[in-house]
Amino acid sequence: MNKRGQFSSRLGFILAAAGAAVGLGNIWGFPTQVASNGGGAFVLVYLVLTFALAYPILMVELTIGRFAQANMVGALQKISPTKWTRKLGTFTGLWGMLVVTLILSFYAIIAGWMIAYFLNTITQFSGLVEFSAWLVDFSLSRNIVFCVIFSCLNVAIVCKGVTEGIERWSSRLMPMLLILIVVLIIYVATLDGAAQGWRVYLVPDFSKILDPQLLVSAMGQAFFSLSLGVGAMLIYGSYVSKQENLPELGASVALIDSGIAILAGMLIIPAMYVAQHNGVTIFTETGDLIDGDRLIFKVIPQLFGSMGAIGNLIGAAFFLLMAIAALTSSISMLEVPVAYAVESRNITRHKAAWLVGAGIMVISLIIMFNFELLFSLVIKVTTEYSQPMIGFLLCVYAGWIWHRNELLTELSRGCTTMEASLFWKIWPYYVRIVCPVIILVMFYKSVIGR
Ligand code: TRP
Repeated sequence: MNKRGQFSSRLGFILAAAGAAVGLGNIWGFPTQVASNGGGAFVLVYLVLTFALAYPILMVELTIGRFAQANMVGALQKISPTKWTRKLGTFTGLWGMLVVTLILSFYAIIAGWMIAYFLNTITQFSGLVEFSAWLVDFSLSRNIVFCVIFSCLNVAIVCKGVTEGIERWSSRLMPMLLILIVVLIIYVATLDGAAQGWRVYLVPDFSKILDPQLLVSAMGQAFFSLSLGVGAMLIYGSYVSKQENLPELGASVALIDSGIAILAGMLIIPAMYVAQHNGVTIFTETGDLIDGDRLIFKVIPQLFGSMGAIGNLIGAAFFLLMAIAALTSSISMLEVPVAYAVESRNITRHKAAWLVGAGIMVISLIIMFNFELLFSLVIKVTTEYSQPMIGFLLCVYAGWIWHRNELLTELSRGCTTMEASLFWKIWPYYVRIVCPVIILVMFYKSVIGR
């Protein structure tokens, strides 16, 4: 039998789970979405959805995971009382695994770009002009090389298991990223053009708030950012000790994650308007963002370029930390199919990590060869649709299928005063009724709103 790992401390878990949550979704995804969905209105809806919908579902994943001590397929089977609910559990778990596989396959491509941009800050100085140009120009060869490098790093870490690999890597570098972002926010705020960016970011246009596209995008972003609906947080929950207070742990993760997204917006949105002020075209005549996916890679290097000699150093630190943030997130994704292979298929961790990693690399290759066709499509199908739908099924499990006593007992472990808390009184009903209804209403609106 494989012995299950466990996080060695409370802080270790928070940092690892926050490391899983904080990634390209916060610093690349969130600002891009804000810019393409009407600025402040998106920020507001995202924040409301994060706490009113995503946090309760994060708690579902953590609670089921800690109770069942297994991957999502095994866990949902374990809490199913009947044959049919067991089948539904298997289906939901496998669907989550498919979704996370697809998410990782596009994620590794973007993460690869981060490494390329990092290298560029070094090669620029060494006179390797052509090589530098290759690093920053969008090309198939560049995309493939760095996606493969990134994927191998990811596999190598997951091979090592919970404490050795995941926890150690996650805990040290996140604080550095935070400091760097704050310094950059202050710098950018002093530049010409930034004020307009702040206005767009902070002043919501209330007429856009109920826009169906904005609503589903914000819901997808909230699920993506907290890594929900694929069993990643469920697995992290299964590595948490029974002595911990789960609602508090979950709340810390949700706060850190949305806090970093909001900070990243304070950097990137003003930086976009500074770039526009300096003559970079960022919007088309119709007001849409030009090439949203790659915009940040245009705006941010320009920003570092404008900072003089020190800009290069800061740029290097920024892209390196971004690549690391992407790595700590990717680890949590790869862990999903690997834990399944290890626990349910009895394959060794080492073998499972390389096999699954290779499979995902193949999917990344398919996407890279058909970039225009597949890249945004895969992002949309996985994050906007699949993640909330699986979130819905998880609420059905926690609210309707799983035996209530077991749920409540698991929740109260690690906290003697739990039964007096507001969370205890509200959450079980909330995930039973309110969360599923919100998700259905969102989808309904997005279907009739088109
Ligand atoms: N939340 C991470 C980010 O914002 C990405 C991520 C990690 C993720 N694990 C996940 C997304 C699982 C979906 C599912 O970058």
